[in-house]
Amino acid sequence: MRALVLVHGGAGHVPEARRAEHVEGCVAAARAGQAALRAGESALAAAVVAVEVMENDARYNAGTGGSLTSDGTLELAAAVMEGRARRAGAVAALPPFPHPIRIALALLEAEGPVMLAGGGAARWAAAHGFVRSDSMITARARERLARWREGRVRGVWAGGTVGAVALAHGTVAAATSTGGTVGKPPGRVGDSPIVGAGTWADDASAAVSCTGVGEPILRVGLARTAADRVAELGAQGAAEAALGQLEEHGGEAGLILVAPDGTVGIARNTTTMSWALCHADGTEESGC
Ligand code: GLY
Repeated sequence: MRALVLVHGGAGHVPEARRAEHVEGCVAAARAGQAALRAGESALAAAVVAVEVMENDARYNAGTGGSLTSDGTLELAAAVMEGRARRAGAVAALPPFPHPIRIALALLEAEGPVMLAGGGAARWAAAHGFVRSDSMITARARERLARWREGRVRGVWAGGTVGAVALAHGTVAAATSTGGTVGKPPGRVGDSPIVGAGTWADDASAAVSCTGVGEPILRVGLARTAADRVAELGAQGAAEAALGQLEEHGGEAGLILVAPDGTVGIARNTTTMSWALCHADGTEESGC
């Protein structure tokens, strides 16, 4: 039975000189997912472990190194979803906890609320053993906010969101984690934690993780839109068609997708989107 994990390191405009290291981080994350698959773990476990690696990696806009709000604070968001029963868990506007994706997974497993936000999410996480950390703001994130305050960031910058989709034991799963857009107003929620917008998984269609500026993605419901077109257009065709629909709404984004038959889609309309694909059988591909 086919098993694979496909990871992205965010749609954006990574300069040529930094592209190799951006891909390198994706490969490391995808290999962690691959090890989980080889150990017989689920698609959901593989997607989560891959995203967790990237939340630890300050090169990406998720977990440690996430973008800061206009107040200079860290508000994180993450979602997970599995395709068999469409179980999902998500956190939004979460104060700094090292692994928002693990909190999202704990919510999925608890089978209570699908999403918690802000102080309520923090309280739930603390009550379930997660420990808040106030040392997750990096110098690079502070510099990016300073550039944004000086008007030196082009448009709304949301690069570096991370995500993974996986297939194992005939079921698909998706996981997405982000610091959101730089200089966002406190309390703003983008697409990443919203089921159907930034994250989606359904064994009848596909698992999808999106990246890019959240507002147009929310308006299009990009992840679900892409999944719904897989039967008609195939995995790659569906990813490209959904992105075409997003462009009609002025969106800048990327997405990765895996269908239950193991076909994948990778599409972006930004200059770059680092990605890596690892199969349980050992084959690997990557790009940017
Ligand atoms: N896609 C990340 C965000 O807009 O928050």
